[in-house]
Amino acid sequence: MPSKVTFQSQGIKLAGNLYLPENTQPKKHATIVIGHPGGGVKEQTAGLYAEKLCNLGFITLAFDAAYQGESEGLPRYLEDPAQRVEDFKSAVSYLTTLKEVDPERIGVLGICAAGGYATCAAQTDVRIKAVAGISSADTGELWREGMNGSLSFEDLQKGLQECARQRTREARGEQPYLSNWVPKTAADAEALPPRSLYREAYDYYRTPRAQHPNSTNAYVFRSMDKLVQFSAFNFVHLIAPRPILLIAGTDADTKYLSEKAIQKAKEPKELFLVSGASHVDLYDVLKYVDPVTQKLGQYFSQYLVDY
Ligand SMILES: *[C@@H]1O[C@H](CO)[C@@H](O)[C@H](O)[C@H]1NC(C)=O
Repeated sequence: MPSKVTFQSQGIKLAGNLYLPENTQPKKHATIVIGHPGGGVKEQTAGLYAEKLCNLGFITLAFDAAYQGESEGLPRYLEDPAQRVEDFKSAVSYLTTLKEVDPERIGVLGICAAGGYATCAAQTDVRIKAVAGISSADTGELWREGMNGSLSFEDLQKGLQECARQRTREARGEQPYLSNWVPKTAADAEALPPRSLYREAYDYYRTPRAQHPNSTNAYVFRSMDKLVQFSAFNFVHLIAPRPILLIAGTDADTKYLSEKAIQKAKEPKELFLVSGASHVDLYDVLKYVDPVTQKLGQYFSQYLVDY
């Protein structure tokens, strides 16, 4: 069972689950900070990987992003990429205060949106000694261009116009307008292509497969104007000589985002493809999660070593 912890991130109190390996010897441990996908909470796929990596001997911390889950911050359900990046740095700061943690051996792991945020944090926080992402997404590119460039310039402009109206309404006292991360109904989901991220995300987040009361399928619509000017991988070359590992399914519609990021990164870098897996398969389908965990275990053992 993890212990519940809290820490500050730019004045916002965040909630995390801290997993300590059993028989903690009186030595300091390699530690991995784990961030959840957009719309997720720490108890879902982030918690699953936290538990599995803890079983391999790492201290792990799965945390809720600011404005979401059990973390504080208003307005609720804002997706602020700059804050999301800061949350990773703040988690590292918190971990350096724990006696069990070796501050020289801290790595980060992000899933989906957090794959982008974790990578972005590591670009300039050199306390992060190794970066990994699973089904990584650059939320900036997705909101700016749509999946595979499917969003037209006109529709982008319409979205930004709507953000502007929402900001003005909030200034006049209205509540933030909430949009949804994944389709609202099974019928809406089934209208999407098989194996696609948003179709399978409905199954993951909105059915007993992984639904959680604090993962509400809501985000503040005007987060869009923050997301559109964010770029997760713009300075990915700054991570070297520290390593980056991105893991993606061969059937994932987001695979191209990991490919582009790895292309731009400097060595040591690796794109690890999981044959036959979709984006969401890597969240919880054990026949994929197990080899992914094994790969992550090898990777973090190799790079989170005493220098
Ligand atoms: C959901 O979050 C609230 C605080 O925002 C917390 O009290 C509650 O325990 C959480 N629910 C679960 C099931 O984790």
